[in-house]
Amino acid sequence: MNISNKNSYKIAVIPGDGIGVEVMEATIKVLDGLDIDFEYEYGLAGDKCKEKKGIALPKETLDLIKNSDACLFGAAGETASDVIVRIRQEMKMFANLRPVKSYPNTNALFDNVDFMIVRENTEGLYIANQEELIDDGAIAKRIITKEAEERIIRYAFDYAMQNNKNKVTAVHKANVLKKTDGLFKEIFYEIAEEYPDIDAEDFYVDATAMYLITNPENFEVIVTTNLFGDILSDEGAGIVGGLGLIPSANIGEDAALFEPVHGSAPDIAGEKKANPIAMLLSAEMMLRYLGENKEADRLDNAILKVLEEGVELTGDLGGSANTFEMARAIKNNL
Ligand code: NAI
Ligand code: MG
Repeated sequence: MNISNKNSYKIAVIPGDGIGVEVMEATIKVLDGLDIDFEYEYGLAGDKCKEKKGIALPKETLDLIKNSDACLFGAAGETASDVIVRIRQEMKMFANLRPVKSYPNTNALFDNVDFMIVRENTEGLYIANQEELIDDGAIAKRIITKEAEERIIRYAFDYAMQNNKNKVTAVHKANVLKKTDGLFKEIFYEIAEEYPDIDAEDFYVDATAMYLITNPENFEVIVTTNLFGDILSDEGAGIVGGLGLIPSANIGEDAALFEPVHGSAPDIAGEKKANPIAMLLSAEMMLRYLGENKEADRLDNAILKVLEEGVELTGDLGGSANTFEMARAIKNNL
């Protein structure tokens, strides 16, 4: 029975391999400082799990995610695609959210970048088994359906409404891909009419790749198809500098998973050198997904403060603190 007046949630925790284990442990310690009751249930997945159980993603781990309010995922090693790609497919996580935000004392190229890339995760060019060999080459199909694109575009506008953003930018190549991206663009402006308080604009993907470098402050929310979102989100990561800082979310109708963009980093695993911020910012995205915006702001401010002070920083940011020292500093600033 929940006798406190805090909100409570059941969270599936999958630390995985390598630094996934370390950044997850550090993150849970910080979350303990928030005014929320989390009930954690740990699940196995990844290389270690495969060694032990013969399979990288056991059914009980999938069930655990299904039966939780949200999932925190650390990183997997060589089995990453067997784990994370399968979870996205099984749970129909159609939206991939990749924030691009600059923080102080990092390798960010700009000071005031803060936008969200909302990437369609289920179709476009990236559908399994949609490539075929032909006599003198190979063909890939690019699938754009009304249902999936309406869903992702509506998600982007709802995200803008809920997060005080004023504008959504659609990114496409409708001048060349007239049928597929023509449809995407048409649906975008249809749905935009349902959101009169949010500005709508659209750019070609090649131009956007340049604007992200010349004028990144222009963007608030970008919505785009699968391949373009994949490429632009890595460009975004480059703009704000460093894998140790980049979180992400995978959102479905009734399941959501939050994970750092980095992998298991075998070169530093077990040495407490990993920057925990990417995992912490992933947890912050989870808090916002759960509607806990006030606690998410507290966490964000604490991270910002530690970065501004520039003392308790991990090696990737030029400091000498270890994973847990940095996490403790963040917790103390909550
Ligand atoms: P990686 O992200 O693990 O590491 C790339 C480089 O960034 C390494 O030098 C690493 O030390 C550094 N790095 C990454 N995260 C860091 C952090 N939090 N703090 C400080 N430094 C950090 O990518 P890599 O090396 O390509 O892959 C290693 C393994 O991870 C592979 O087995 C790969 O399959 C897996 N992987 C898993 C992913 C996932 O679980 N979603 C995503 C990417 C890779
Ligand atoms: Mg990618």
